[in-house]
Amino acid sequence: MKPRAFVKVGVFLACLMPFILLLVALAMGTLSANPIQDITQETGVWTLRFLLIALCVTPLRKLSGWNEIIKFRRMLGLFAFFYGFLHLMTYLWLDQFFSVPEIMHDVVKRPFITAGTAGFLLMVPLAVTSTRKWISRLGGKRWQLLHRLVYFSAGAAVAHYLWLVKADIQRPVAYAVVLSTLIAYRLFDALHSRRVAEQRLGRGAVLSYSRLHD
Ligand code: HEM
Repeated sequence: MKPRAFVKVGVFLACLMPFILLLVALAMGTLSANPIQDITQETGVWTLRFLLIALCVTPLRKLSGWNEIIKFRRMLGLFAFFYGFLHLMTYLWLDQFFSVPEIMHDVVKRPFITAGTAGFLLMVPLAVTSTRKWISRLGGKRWQLLHRLVYFSAGAAVAHYLWLVKADIQRPVAYAVVLSTLIAYRLFDALHSRRVAEQRLGRGAVLSYSRLHD
């Protein structure tokens, strides 16, 4: 196996580990007295972590110059979707027994469920269009624009977490800080690139530069 493929398999297995550990804990009966809540919490928190880890890829690549890392972004994003799907299924199946009236009531009346649903639904087009075929079908620029939805998905996910905790908001706030930092970096980077282009190319060329890089 080539070293690059070896690393890819390693990253894949590392991403799968929370799921494997959850299955092991379930099989060994080492979850708490409320295993459904444990599964919901574990899958929820890993969805959020993978969303944020995927969002870290571009800043890491730009700051470190380690371009190879971009090859893992799709896998990390799809793992966020995978854990999100498990999280949603735990709620729909194990928590609500697919009772449509109960689920609709929750989606409309409980703001944290509304935010979570929005966060998950926003991930669907991202997962669907994550293939090379979709990139060429949409064109790089439109694809990039669509994939900025990931920031809204992560925002809804953080709101979901902040809304559902009753007392200790330390953990959701920590995730909110990480997300805000990533968004601030993205905005700063966009402004900086524009300014550099303005200085290098002169005002007239900025328009064509932003067409290429935005
Ligand atoms: C982007 C999508 C989502 C993310 C990132 C996410 C994340 C989370 C997180 C971090 C938690 C708390 C875990 C903990 O307490 O340690 C959680 C709990 C929960 N989530 Fe989500 N969630 C998402 C979507 C959804 C959806 C679509 C639903 C249902 C429609 C849902 C229902 C729940 C429920 C019922 C809980 C447990 C609340 C409790 O313990 O009282 N989530 N979620």
